[in-house]
Amino acid sequence: MRLDPWRERWEAGQTGFHEAAPNALLVAHADALVGQRRVLVPLCGKSNDLTYLRSRGHEVVGVEGVEMAALAYFAERGVLPKDEVRDGARTLSHDGVTIVVADYFDATLEPCDAVYDRGAIVAVDPSLRGRYAEKTLSLLTRPATLLVVGFSYDQTEMAGPPFSLSEGDVRALFGAHGAVEKASSRDALAENPRFRERGATAIEEAVFRVELT
Ligand SMILES: C[S@@+](CC[C@H](N)C(=O)[O-])C[C@H]1O[C@@H](n2cnc3c(N)ncnc32)[C@H](O)[C@@H]1O
Repeated sequence: MRLDPWRERWEAGQTGFHEAAPNALLVAHADALVGQRRVLVPLCGKSNDLTYLRSRGHEVVGVEGVEMAALAYFAERGVLPKDEVRDGARTLSHDGVTIVVADYFDATLEPCDAVYDRGAIVAVDPSLRGRYAEKTLSLLTRPATLLVVGFSYDQTEMAGPPFSLSEGDVRALFGAHGAVEKASSRDALAENPRFRERGATAIEEAVFRVELT
C-alpha cells in the first residue's frame, strides 16, 4: 500500500526525481566513501548514482520497491541481470550492482559499510523517518559512513515528496549514533524548475556526512 503511489508514478512516467547524470553533490563528496566496500543505496530507483558508485570500486546494493524501476536500471544499460529470490525478495544483480526489490522497511540484507541516500529519506513520509533511520542503522556495520543528500525548504510552500530535510532533522535522526557534518550545499531551485512550479521560492540541496561509531 505504501508503495502504490510510487508504482503509479513509475507507470505514468512521472519520474522527475531521476537525474540524467550522477548527483553533483555525490560526485563532489564521493571521497568520503573511499575504503568502504559495500554501499547501500536505499530507495534507489534506476539512479545513475548506482553506476557511479560502482565505477569507484564499491559493491553497490540498492533497495527499490517498484519492480519496474529496478528492471529499467538494467534494461537501460543493455544488460541481463542475474535474477533470483534471496530472503523472499526478487534480487537483480550484474557486475557488482545489486537491486533488491522490496519495501525498504521489510528488506533483509547482508550488513553494509556505508549508505548513500539521495531521494530516499526525503521520499518517506516524515512520520516514518524515525523508523527509516532505525532500519538504516540496523543494516550497517560499525564504523560506517552515511552520505545523505536532501532538500531543505519551507514545507508550507510546497507539499512533499520530497519532504524538507534540515540539518537539525539529520542531527535528530543520527546525531546520537555518530558525528554529523553538513559537508556542502547548493541552491537547487534554478536546476529544478518543477519545484518553482509547485510553489517553492527557495530550496537548498545539501549533503550531510554522518560517521557512525
Ligand atoms: C524520489 S525517488 C528517488 C530514487 C533515487 N534515489 C534517485 O535519486 O533517483 C524514491 C524512490 O523510492 C522508491 N520507494 C518509495 N518508497 C519505498 C519503500 N518503502 N521501499 C522501497 N522503495 C521505495 C520509489 O519507487 C522511488 O523509486
